[in-house]
Amino acid sequence: MMWKKSFLVFLFSLSIQNAVLDDDRTKKTDECPSPRLSSQTTVVTKGQNVSLICSIEKKSQTIMYYFYQGDKYLRTKDNGESNIFNLRISEARDLGPYKCKVQDSISSVYRCSKYSPDFNFTLLDPVATPVLNISVIQTEAGLYITLRCISPNGSLPINYTFFEKNAAISPAISKDVRQPAEFNFTKKSTQGDEEYRCEAKNRLLNNAKYSQYSPIPLTGMTSLWEMCLVMTLGLCGLTS
Ligand SMILES: *[C@@H]1O[C@H](CO)[C@@H](O)[C@H](O)[C@H]1NC(C)=O
Ligand SMILES: *[C@@H]1O[C@H](CO)[C@@H](O)[C@H](O)[C@H]1NC(C)=O
Ligand SMILES: *[C@@H]1O[C@H](CO)[C@@H](O)[C@H](O)[C@H]1NC(C)=O
Ligand SMILES: *[C@@H]1O[C@H](CO)[C@@H](O)[C@H](O)[C@H]1NC(C)=O
Ligand SMILES: *[C@@H]1O[C@H](CO)[C@@H](O)[C@H](O)[C@H]1NC(C)=O
Ligand SMILES: *[C@@H]1O[C@H](CO)[C@@H](O)[C@H](O)[C@H]1NC(C)=O
Repeated sequence: MMWKKSFLVFLFSLSIQNAVLDDDRTKKTDECPSPRLSSQTTVVTKGQNVSLICSIEKKSQTIMYYFYQGDKYLRTKDNGESNIFNLRISEARDLGPYKCKVQDSISSVYRCSKYSPDFNFTLLDPVATPVLNISVIQTEAGLYITLRCISPNGSLPINYTFFEKNAAISPAISKDVRQPAEFNFTKKSTQGDEEYRCEAKNRLLNNAKYSQYSPIPLTGMTSLWEMCLVMTLGLCGLTS
């Protein structure tokens, strides 16, 4: 009788122990997440300096960070102490794939040392200074103005916006072929001092380029009288 009872107790405690072990094991895998590799930008241009940031949820003083390109370990200046790796994109092979690993020799949490998912940069050419072309047709309603803008270089798609002085007069016009963006509008009269320019930009950050300011070309108009009609200067009587 005594023997039976202690055997039952033994079985019971065994199953409790197993339950505790199971619980421990699931906790371990939860506490061993992969780090995440990121950068302030995923699109880069040749010569750009960028930082890779290896991040984890639970930080500790004793964590070491390791950066790799493919399977090659990249030695850092800080030699593992920093979660930031600075690099310069000088050629296509600097684009990646990168990954990082965290390891903590003291805390058990990151002893499992998992890799982050791969991270690649995308190489883009910056836009070149765009060229603005203005043509004018005199109509009964006023001046029919066509603005055309194209950047000779830069990865597509390129977004173009037209400005009168500093105010945008068009929406962003997205071009995924190397052709001019076009914007038409009618102006009832002209002060003669309007200036237009256009902006070109692609997905590269802080890389917008502007054309020079151009006035409305008066050569497009067929006669001085037409100029007088649209200019509100009132000097026409004197000159004609
Ligand atoms: C990039 O960093 C290098 C040094 O690491 C520096 O010489 C260079 O001027 C930097 N380039 C830019 C565009 O900031
Ligand atoms: C990163 O680039 C490599 C080589 O160009 C490619 O094989 C890999 O699929 C890319 N990985 C991701 C996550 O985009
Ligand atoms: C401007 O547009 C006119 C009319 O389309 C064209 O004849 C001329 O070549 C263009 N000029 C430039 C610099 O693109
Ligand atoms: C356009 O890009 C090519 C090659 O990237 C370069 O050689 C050329 O100077 C660039 N032209 C302009 C106007 O930026
Ligand atoms: C602008 O006007 C020109 C000339 O009338 C026309 O050919 C062109 O299609 C117009 N473009 C847009 C975007 O409306
Ligand atoms: C370009 O313009 C479109 C809308 O026309 C917008 O959705 C997109 O975010 C713009 N891209 C850039 C790089 O500004």
